[in-house]
Amino acid sequence: MNTMTTSTADMKQAMSSFATGVTVITAHHAGQDFGMTCNSFNTVSLEPALVLWSLRTVSGNRAHFEAAGGYTVNILSHTQQPLAMQFTKGSHEERFAGLMLARLPTGRPQILGCTAWLDCELERIIPAGDHDILLGRVLSFGVNANTSLEPLIYARRQFGKLAT
Ligand SMILES: Cc1cc2nc3c(=O)[nH]c(=O)nc-3n(C[C@H](O)[C@H](O)[C@H](O)COP(=O)(O)O)c2cc1C
Repeated sequence: MNTMTTSTADMKQAMSSFATGVTVITAHHAGQDFGMTCNSFNTVSLEPALVLWSLRTVSGNRAHFEAAGGYTVNILSHTQQPLAMQFTKGSHEERFAGLMLARLPTGRPQILGCTAWLDCELERIIPAGDHDILLGRVLSFGVNANTSLEPLIYARRQFGKLAT
């Protein structure tokens, strides 16, 4: 096993061998839906139910997520791989184009067909280098009744699914 430096490229390469799921984090503010692809999502605490994800400080969505005061985590199924790229670029309208959505009581959009979703109130923003950690308290969540729907996996900069 090679020992690497701590350059950004080496760090990215090391982290790419950590397989994650893929989410689209959505929110709603001032009459506008917005969202972005995120794989830094994770659980923090079960009681109380807390989750987190990290957002680049220079993200064009940074101000929107803070102003919205909450977010919905949409956990993508492997059939939704195109959405993972759709939510990395373009305008708000382009990102949501052609999507089937449900509207949660908080007003936030939930993407239909996901394996699960969690609707969260923004508890705290924790500055962390070139990212901010958005700690959220889970208000409600749901799991897709179709349990044979497989989660989308991301590792080594590629999308895939579990070899079952
Ligand atoms: C698989 C995958 C995971 C991503 N995870 C994150 C993440 O955790 N945090 C983040 O800030 N950006 C992440 N991104 C990149 C953002 O989706 C992308 O930079 C953003 O949507 C660009 O829009 P913006 O300029 O409005 O921020 C990820 C992209 C991909 C393809």
